[in-house]
Amino acid sequence: MEQNQPNVKMDFPSYKNYKESSKQPFHTAFFENHPDVVCLLSKQKKVQLFNQVAERVTGYIAREITHQSFNEMVDKETRFLFSRGFEKALNGETTEQQMKIKTKSGDMVHLHAKLFPAKGETGVEGVFLVARDNKAEQEKNETALIAAGAAHEIKNQLTTLKGFTKLIQNGSENKDEHCNIIMSELERMEYILEVIGSSARPLTFEFKEEQIEDVIEGVLDLLRKECETYQVQVTTEIESNLPYVEIDEKRLKQVFINILKNAMEAMVMGGHVHINVTKNDSEILIAFKDNGCGIPDSHLHQIGKPFYTTKEKGTGLGLLISKMIIEAHKGKMAITSKEGEGTTITISLPVSR
Ligand SMILES: Nc1ncnc2c1ncn2[C@@H]1O[C@H](COP(=O)(O)OP(=O)(O)O)[C@@H](O)[C@H]1O
Ligand SMILES: [Mg+2]
Repeated sequence: MEQNQPNVKMDFPSYKNYKESSKQPFHTAFFENHPDVVCLLSKQKKVQLFNQVAERVTGYIAREITHQSFNEMVDKETRFLFSRGFEKALNGETTEQQMKIKTKSGDMVHLHAKLFPAKGETGVEGVFLVARDNKAEQEKNETALIAAGAAHEIKNQLTTLKGFTKLIQNGSENKDEHCNIIMSELERMEYILEVIGSSARPLTFEFKEEQIEDVIEGVLDLLRKECETYQVQVTTEIESNLPYVEIDEKRLKQVFINILKNAMEAMVMGGHVHINVTKNDSEILIAFKDNGCGIPDSHLHQIGKPFYTTKEKGTGLGLLISKMIIEAHKGKMAITSKEGEGTTITISLPVSR
């Protein structure tokens, strides 16, 4: 469809003449500095041009991939879709599609790709693929969401702070109590700002090989008092001979504390948390199972979204930051819950090799 064509007329010289073409430096600079993945593919799907972003996203360098079949890089699941878009481009059409690409290291990246004809002196001579890494886009959206939520949250807190300050100015009798409220609101604001800071610039980590049971014991020591206050009994079952894991101990402790505090807050009448640590071939699994209030099915998908909280003094940031920390360890965090029965949070961490 002619009206779907991008607004750029490339006037591309045929490949035969490309190297000698006077347009080559202009085109090369354009491809190389393009902020998206840009590939030019021959009619046989062989890579002709592969820009720097394509190198960064796929892990291949242009020199090794040029003249190789691009098809091999496309995951089987999306290969058919890709071939169809490719054929359409050869027929002069532009299509957009989601693609999965296998990187050199074997990871999978999700791309949003546009395929369109590369027209040269003799008509369509190949296909351009311009693509964007979905993850980068998703991360950008998440940061924007956190920033918007934080602005809203902080505005509400400022209203509270102003209100209580006014009461004190007017000679309130509960001055101490009001000061305490102001202080706790300020602390909450401080925490929120810390989290926004870490979502805008990456958290820094110091990884070291550690034993996970030492980390868990350290956390339980820290929380001994809270456990008494909430009347929560914590039991542990830790498989023997666990391999070492490469972790940032301080950050991981932060995650375990978040999870255990959530469990305690879900058990107003006291209760039980069981921590079970097991291993399989490649990872260590840490499950925190509580018999607290649980989460209704209809709310489960909200958990871990920025500022989702059901607590009067909650921030709704604990699980979000925990997930960020676990992902930085190349691990995963999962939650299962049944209303009225309890919640289990499972963390998997890759073992050191
Ligand atoms: N163990 C749990 N049992 C029941 N609900 C939980 C549990 N952990 C988390 N939640 C729910 O998830 C929400 C978000 O948790 P979190 O991100 O730590 O923020 P916050 O604790 O500040 O509310 C909580 O408000 C609560 O509704
Ligand atoms: Mg919490």
